[in-house]
Amino acid sequence: MSARSLRPFRVEVARAYRRLGELGLITGSSGNVSLRVGEGILITPTGIPWERVRPEGIVALDFAGRVRGRGHPSSEWRLHLVLLRARPDVRAVVHTHSPFATAAALFDQALPVLHDEGRLLFGETIPLARHAPPGTWELAQNALAALGEGRAVLLPRHGAVAVGRTLDEALTLAEKIEEAARLFLLSQALRGP
Ligand code: 13P
Repeated sequence: MSARSLRPFRVEVARAYRRLGELGLITGSSGNVSLRVGEGILITPTGIPWERVRPEGIVALDFAGRVRGRGHPSSEWRLHLVLLRARPDVRAVVHTHSPFATAAALFDQALPVLHDEGRLLFGETIPLARHAPPGTWELAQNALAALGEGRAVLLPRHGAVAVGRTLDEALTLAEKIEEAARLFLLSQALRGP
């Protein structure tokens, strides 16, 4: 795809990343967003705080993980690539370090989804992947194995991943993961020891 035809998609990815920051689902440059476009993906850059990411800073990769053009992709590019390669139904991947989901991912168990709306989206639980260091192929493979055909997965001691047919859908799911985690932790606190 030409640089010009990629422009609207770069705008979409940069806007989605900004939205994650505004929603408080990420801080600084933690978390990342990708979108399948033609024969490759667009992904947020590494190490740039969300409020400073512009469309021209979004990085293009092919499906072998090679940078097309300029920039340094998110350190989690392997995670995005593995999920997008394995799931043709998925066009967008959103990874956050949202606080309640990250806290829920400290328990050694899938996250129980307590409310009916959440269950319609995710089923009874959001699965927890096996732990692996950030930025590794192992983390990517573990996330895929736990995600299966689902829409969300938690990464232990790390955060959450949502996948969608569109970027808007993946963003909404990232918010809903956080809501499910908040409700679970709140219910635990209310129930007491
Ligand atoms: P990037 O700034 O490289 O995207 O890294 C943040 C992150 O989410 C690590 O898991």
